[in-house]
Amino acid sequence: MIQQQATILWNRALGLDCVHLGLSFAQGFPVSVPGQFVMVRIGDAAMPLLRRPFSISGILGDFRQPDGIELMIKVVGKATRAMAGLRSGQTVDVVGPLGHGFRVPDGVVRIYLAAGGIGVAPIRFLAKEMAARGVEPLNCHLFLGGRSRHDLLCRGEFEKLGMEVTVTTDDGSDGRQCLLTDPLEAAIIAQRPDMVCACGPHGMLACVAGITERLAVPCQVSLETLMACGLGACLGCAVAPRRPSGDYLHACVNGPVFNAEEITL
Ligand code: FES
Repeated sequence: MIQQQATILWNRALGLDCVHLGLSFAQGFPVSVPGQFVMVRIGDAAMPLLRRPFSISGILGDFRQPDGIELMIKVVGKATRAMAGLRSGQTVDVVGPLGHGFRVPDGVVRIYLAAGGIGVAPIRFLAKEMAARGVEPLNCHLFLGGRSRHDLLCRGEFEKLGMEVTVTTDDGSDGRQCLLTDPLEAAIIAQRPDMVCACGPHGMLACVAGITERLAVPCQVSLETLMACGLGACLGCAVAPRRPSGDYLHACVNGPVFNAEEITL
């Protein structure tokens, strides 16, 4: 983990209210695992803002020796609006990489990815990392969902990697008008994958976890949780364990990626 200033390399519009940022670090960035996140502080003495967590959505340079990282920002408030307004050459203070990411065991061949809305950020990183490791893209199937077509981020990138992509929207403006979990469940039944990795809204993750548990498929979920410190100090990101006798977990240090059967969703 490092704390250093990052320079904004680029800021590209992504959908209606999202941007995609490239951040470079003069001393490089530690090797990171898909699902890990950074805490970013912007603002200055006149307008100090708390650090905010952002999932790493990609690596700049070599995966084994990153020069920088990519972040996707969805504007939901003051801090994210300020992040989305950053211009190339500006700097931000970054701590990371933090937390535990996706763990794809050796021997996993067929993997299904499920991404809802901005939850696509760590799934994009995972897909790119698997492609860089030589995982056969035809064995990966992405289920990408959103409220409307505007929420379907990075679809072309997954298709370029050679993955099968199934799109769903709540309003029917693109793909099938249904929940992402409908085609996911049908696909698991038709062609059982070795594991499912998911990130998205809580309701979606709960549904994915229910399906995979019922069909006995290993599943890892990346939680989108409010975090104040990102370091295990504030205890504000508590996650209830599945075992009634278990201790509470914390998304920032024990996650944000968990085996679905470990936690109560
Ligand atoms: Fe503070 Fe997790 S964000 S303990």
